Amino acid sequence: MFAVISDIHSNLEALTTVLADIERRGIETIYCLGDVVGYGANPRECLDLIIKMTKWCVLGNHDYAVLYEPTNFNFAAEQASFWTRESLENERDKELRNRRWQFVGMLPMRRTVKTKLGDRSVVIDFVHASPRKPINEYIFPDDVYTNPVKVQVLFEKVKYICFVGHTHLPGVFLNEPDFYLPDELGNVYPIVDGEKAIINIGSVGQPRDRDNRASYVFVEQDRVHFVRLEYDLEATAKKILAVEQLDNFHAERLRDGR
Ligand SMILES: [Fe+2]
Repeated sequence: MFAVISDIHSNLEALTTVLADIERRGIETIYCLGDVVGYGANPRECLDLIIKMTKWCVLGNHDYAVLYEPTNFNFAAEQASFWTRESLENERDKELRNRRWQFVGMLPMRRTVKTKLGDRSVVIDFVHASPRKPINEYIFPDDVYTNPVKVQVLFEKVKYICFVGHTHLPGVFLNEPDFYLPDELGNVYPIVDGEKAIINIGSVGQPRDRDNRASYVFVEQDRVHFVRLEYDLEATAKKILAVEQLDNFHAERLRDGR
């Protein structure tokens, strides 16, 4: 049994809510698909928790932005990224500061896990964005209609199952190509022998599917469970509003989940 979380975006309230739910279920293995930071007001605390609680994490475009430079970011996202860098730099505890930077600097672009699903041995891939461009490429649900060739090309890069985040829109892509919302699946995707799937797990700290609850998945036997959790988003919003360099929109969008 393992849980997969992604796109925390410095939202401490959402992260602690999700971690408590994972613990309550007795799940000990947590994988993280990146974008630990960006947008929110608690990059230090979120990084510390991810370092402590997850088995590993892969690199997201916002983690990359803080470490190197923002690419294709809008102004507000870019500002958030510069503020995050400053916040990590201004940590007075040198050891803590180095530990966080080292963690971000060592994040790999991909991870592969060999595991058992039921009685089958399988290989599962994990990236932040897409199997073709692991840090930056968006796979939108609409792509299955507007750009089916793109989705089919992406599936050529998938051996079996690939977990992604990045768009903050949870759901399952199949090879047809096709896309299913968690709702349409009763919040459970049964992994089928021989059926490739790209599974977007949604966002912990910045959901964008018009549902403002934190999103993550856990895998039990050969079933992927999509979970949504209410958290204290007003507390998160308040902290963002209090930081001048963080655009108020990052707070407002939390309420609408957009
Ligand atoms: Fe993200």
